[in-house]
Amino acid sequence: MVKNYILIIDFGSQYTHIIAKKIRQKGVFTKIQNPLNVILKDPNIKGIILSGGPASVYDEGVVNLPLSLNKIDVPILGICYGFQYIIKELKGKISKAKTKEYGNTTIKIINKTPIYRGIGKDKINTWMSHGDIVKKVPNDFIITAISQNNIIVSAENQKNQIYGLQFHPEVYHTEYGEKILKNFIDICKIKEKWKPENEIEDIIRIVRSEVGKECVGLAISGGVDSTVLGIILKKALGKNLFPVFIDNGLLRKNEVQMRKEMFRELGLNVKIIDASKEFLTALSNVRAPSKKRKIIGKVFIDILGKYFKNNNIKILAQGTLYPDVIESKTVVGKSSTIKLHHNVGGLPKDMEFKLLEPFKFLFKDDVRRIGKNMGIAREVLLQHPFPGPGLAVRIPGIINEERLQILKEADDIYIKALKKWKLYNKIWQAFCVLVPIKTSGIKGDVGVSQYVISLRAVNSVDGMTANWFDFPPELLREISSEITNKVNGITRVLYDITNKPPATIEWE
Ligand code: XMP
Repeated sequence: MVKNYILIIDFGSQYTHIIAKKIRQKGVFTKIQNPLNVILKDPNIKGIILSGGPASVYDEGVVNLPLSLNKIDVPILGICYGFQYIIKELKGKISKAKTKEYGNTTIKIINKTPIYRGIGKDKINTWMSHGDIVKKVPNDFIITAISQNNIIVSAENQKNQIYGLQFHPEVYHTEYGEKILKNFIDICKIKEKWKPENEIEDIIRIVRSEVGKECVGLAISGGVDSTVLGIILKKALGKNLFPVFIDNGLLRKNEVQMRKEMFRELGLNVKIIDASKEFLTALSNVRAPSKKRKIIGKVFIDILGKYFKNNNIKILAQGTLYPDVIESKTVVGKSSTIKLHHNVGGLPKDMEFKLLEPFKFLFKDDVRRIGKNMGIAREVLLQHPFPGPGLAVRIPGIINEERLQILKEADDIYIKALKKWKLYNKIWQAFCVLVPIKTSGIKGDVGVSQYVISLRAVNSVDGMTANWFDFPPELLREISSEITNKVNGITRVLYDITNKPPATIEWE
């Protein structure tokens, strides 16, 4: 399916996905591999990037690649730890830094080789994050830039096409970072232009050949991934596709109705199952977030399993994305919890499913582009993420009808205001949380004791880290007075000004 690509070897940097996405945006396909099981012999690899990582090259147990870098005959770019790996492997010298460089650092380009082509200045701002430094480059290398602290920050061996950068070109703060990545792509001489939308026909062909005449089930939430997948599968399988939407009673105001209309407009014949009673009964008196998630996952899987059994469905389609596939091996904790309720491992024992995951080599941006190309409305593609357990994780503690109703009303006011102020598309995720404590207030000359609403709005790249959004005070004023005036049960509105880390985006 895919011809030429750049292989990114992931030494554990938080920025590896960004490198992969930036290169894909420039029309070159990328794959990310763990250094432990890296295969370098694929003739479709036209360039290799060694990512950054938290380790020091002198740490015990660092992973070595199965092949000497001098024996690799495609261009190599090492970034941060990757740069230091190159230097150590090729017999240069690394040492602990006396002056550690973190964050914005000015560098001076002293040799304007092709990796720096098209940069009109000698001094540029870059983003650094390193404790070790390159003390001496290998004999056949030249130094191409040094930092304001006189530290070697880039070097290369043009003959063997090996390049190293101490800074992160993939990070937004690095001036000309994208240009530097583009220069590396040019060095790799990849001719064809990769576009996710060109994959549609291939995906359809592969789905048909994997599925044959079987029926395929799809749990569709109305989010970007499952909706775009639904449309592609509909094209591939016609009436053998069984999309199902489970209403768990934890959705936002009017969401079921809006989803129904959206599915109809998209030509998807979705079975809507109203299971809100089952979910709310199973959740009554449950406080712990992990227990809530487990219960929601179990009820969801039971209902889905029953529906699939009744319709003789043996294949389950999932909108699994590339980061899920890469992260699943290395990331523990929250990320694995996130997938809990979609986890096929939770299906009843007497049901065996074959999995169909046509998006497992795509990023969300790629899926959005495919969706756009297929004519899916902008509002669908640009909607904020919404967690599987829905409003259950936005009401800390006990969930009941009254609390859900209050939260739905407040959230609806908030989101409508963001759209009216044209801020919705500038924010990565925004929602209300019902804080289940009662505080005093006065409404219509009467003293009341009612719940608190906390507004949350963050910007993020992939949800792993996030910064709170800086609202104009007039907007906060407007939202606060609308919520307290119109929502019965709320006297107080807060704005959550916490980044992730330390706080998570959701409150539970
Ligand atoms: P946190 O709260 O972990 O959220 O900072 C990061 C992103 O993941 C979403 N999220 C979930 N999504 N099931 C999901 O499908 C979950 O249990 C879950 N918990 C958090 C959250 O909305 C944010 O986009």
